[in-house]
Amino acid sequence: MAEVRVSIVGGSGYTGGELLRLLLFHPRVRLQQVTSERFAGKGVARVHPNLRKVTDLRFVSLDQLQPCDTLFLCLPHGRAMQRLPELLDKAERIIDLSADFRLNDAQRYAAWYGTEHAHPEMLSQFVYGIPELHREAMREARFVSSAGCNATATILGLYPLFKHGMVEMDQTVVEVKGGSSEGGNAPSEATHHPERSNVVRSYRPTLHRHTAEVEQELSIHGPVRVHLSATALGIVRGVLATCHIFLNDDFDEKAIWKVFRETYAEEPFIRIVKEKTGIYRYPEPKLLIGSNYCDIGFEKDPRSRRLVVMSAIDNLMKGAAGQAVQAFNLMHGFAETTALEFPGLHPI
Ligand SMILES: NC(=O)c1ccc[n+]([C@@H]2O[C@H](COP(=O)([O-])OP(=O)(O)OC[C@H]3O[C@@H](n4cnc5c(N)ncnc54)[C@H](OP(=O)(O)O)[C@@H]3O)[C@@H](O)[C@H]2O)c1
Repeated sequence: MAEVRVSIVGGSGYTGGELLRLLLFHPRVRLQQVTSERFAGKGVARVHPNLRKVTDLRFVSLDQLQPCDTLFLCLPHGRAMQRLPELLDKAERIIDLSADFRLNDAQRYAAWYGTEHAHPEMLSQFVYGIPELHREAMREARFVSSAGCNATATILGLYPLFKHGMVEMDQTVVEVKGGSSEGGNAPSEATHHPERSNVVRSYRPTLHRHTAEVEQELSIHGPVRVHLSATALGIVRGVLATCHIFLNDDFDEKAIWKVFRETYAEEPFIRIVKEKTGIYRYPEPKLLIGSNYCDIGFEKDPRSRRLVVMSAIDNLMKGAAGQAVQAFNLMHGFAETTALEFPGLHPI
């Protein structure tokens, strides 16, 4: 069977490392090149020590990049759009993990990111990268823009309810809590160990940029407002989105179950987690480390129409590299779960 020649741009970072871990075991992939400017010429296992004895690949500089079939871009936001013209010459298909092509409207991009988009004409060509919402478009796509980690947890948790028009449009409040690897591997004062360890730090109480893509994807029956806050935790991996919505009718839990079941019954990576007893009653990011699952639970407030939806992922997997490989599988007609079967660890 023919192999797909894949290269990774920006492979020395956290999402690049996770892509390497997945793609080196993908039966239909030949990993051709991985770029890093800082580590060009060095073995990839020097930066990603979990890959010792797994691969002899060495980083190359971006200007040594050869043509391939599919490129994964793991650059900081703003960089992918600047380099897009030269990258388009290198591959038939591109999967970008940055925020550069997630919004389909250049004005919204400028409003949320504070800068004009370098290639607004390309925005409509990228399919937004959540397979559970855009599977059919992905099968035909040349370009996929992988979704943000906080946005993925939020959107997957709320999508069935917005799709079925069960929500008061302007009253959705979301609190996302995330681990330190969300911020990538460039050190900063905020990530210095004594400052970050054990932290529960309000990070972006308002105007978190992922709000824009959440509103875009949930505006199924008209424009919606989502009020999102982000809190940084002292863990390394994981996102938990706690979403408060107000139902627009007196739906009971049975009705809520029905829409989640209908929407996600056939989804390989979505699990509804809602137990009556025990310590694993609701989704927990810790149990998802290294896996591509999104665990979703909910509870109806018996005193009101408030519904609390909890949605958990590993930010580097379903929130980044895992979801990008899921998109890659769809784009190439491979089984969607290929290279993504790892179920996580317990205990951990
Ligand atoms: N971390 C997450 O949980 C997460 C989740 C979803 C999406 N994302 C997005 O995915 C992208 C990558 O995230 P990450 O966490 O992997 O970031 P990261 O750990 O900071 O890695 C960034 C990579 O880009 C390279 N790079 C930096 N500046 C560059 C430049 N000017 N030109 C060429 N290469 C450059 C770096 O390598 P060298 O400096 O060695 O070249 C490094 O390999 C970001 O846009 C991020 O927003 C991240």
